[in-house]
Amino acid sequence: MIANAALAEVTAQRRDSIAYTVQQDCGSCHGLTFAGGLGPDLQAERLQSIPDDYLIQVIKHGIPGTPMPPWQRFFNDEEIQWIVTQLKRGSL
Ligand code: HEC
Repeated sequence: MIANAALAEVTAQRRDSIAYTVQQDCGSCHGLTFAGGLGPDLQAERLQSIPDDYLIQVIKHGIPGTPMPPWQRFFNDEEIQWIVTQLKRGSL
């Protein structure tokens, strides 16, 4: 899945920037504490039962016909995996 070793690691600086974007942008629809709003609850407890693959696909491609936009222009695969891991840990 990781095509380029140089991309395999999300740098600390990039993490801060991604975390900020997720809080602001995702938070605007999913709630500032991710408890839900226009979009569903993305808190760690609820996400545990949802497979990473599904979450990654949804974040990457969005859900056509709904307000959930695609994020692949903003985040690469490693970064999306990192976001999913952090959401599941409740660390964003
Ligand atoms: C413009 C509003 C909006 C923004 C911004 C947004 N979402 Fe969503 N999101 C939604 C809506 C609405 C849904 C539910 C769509 C449906 O199935 O009807 C959704 C669904 C999802 C789902 C699927 C949840 C489930 O239980 O199936 C995930 C995961 C998700 N969003 C993550 C994110 C992440 C991460 C971001 C930021 C990178 C983000 N969203 C930004 C509106 C938004």
